[in-house]
Amino acid sequence: MKLFIDTANLEEIKEALSWGCISGATTNPKIMSNEKPEYSFKEKIVEIAELIKTPLSVEVTEEDFNGMVEEAKEYASWHPNIVIKIPMGIEGLKAVNILEKKENVRTNVTCLMATNQALLAALSGATYVSIFYGRVMDMGYDPAEVISETAKLFQGKDISSEIIVGSIRSMFDVNRAFLAGADIVTVPFPILKKMTQNPKTEETVKEFNGIWREMKEKGLILLDKKERIPVSLTLVNR
Ligand code: E4P
Repeated sequence: MKLFIDTANLEEIKEALSWGCISGATTNPKIMSNEKPEYSFKEKIVEIAELIKTPLSVEVTEEDFNGMVEEAKEYASWHPNIVIKIPMGIEGLKAVNILEKKENVRTNVTCLMATNQALLAALSGATYVSIFYGRVMDMGYDPAEVISETAKLFQGKDISSEIIVGSIRSMFDVNRAFLAGADIVTVPFPILKKMTQNPKTEETVKEFNGIWREMKEKGLILLDKKERIPVSLTLVNR
């Protein structure tokens, strides 16, 4: 089970990495266009790849086989962590087949809305297959069913593709995607942040620390004098 971050924003990536629970990042052309063009696309991608040191998905924008393969080879040459996102389709499958089997380029087949598509992508040799939770829901289908059907199909077979679930719109989607069988869920930073918070947690921490401070102010808590850090505590006459 792994969490990726779905952003190209360096500050968000740095912050989330410091939490220790992120092991990759995903981008797409729309995500890239949200960033200020302070520096070139290549510089930005290389900087993110250096920072995360784990898989970074970068999407091709060419729509035919030759164009996709050329673009993919170019991006993959920028950094060893780069995984190439290839949109699902006949041209895309052809590109995945060549990139994975002949060019030693790892791929992530993206924009998947159905189990059949995930199956084809996996059989073509994709390292990752990306199912779009929110967009499946937009069509009126249950994304959890698509994910669990795909996970069941892959299980125990000669398939090594990992299932990434993207297009996450709420923190509940993250839990549901994992429960349905996702190997990886890629989450936008604002949702990752929400996942850390709960009003009852904040209330409880305030309560505990409030009592502690009050006791200390009254001189009713003695820190072990030998230790400079409060690892050993003595409570007196509460
Ligand atoms: C994931 O890999 C995609 O980049 C992303 O999650 C798509 O999300 P959207 O449906 O919000 O555009």
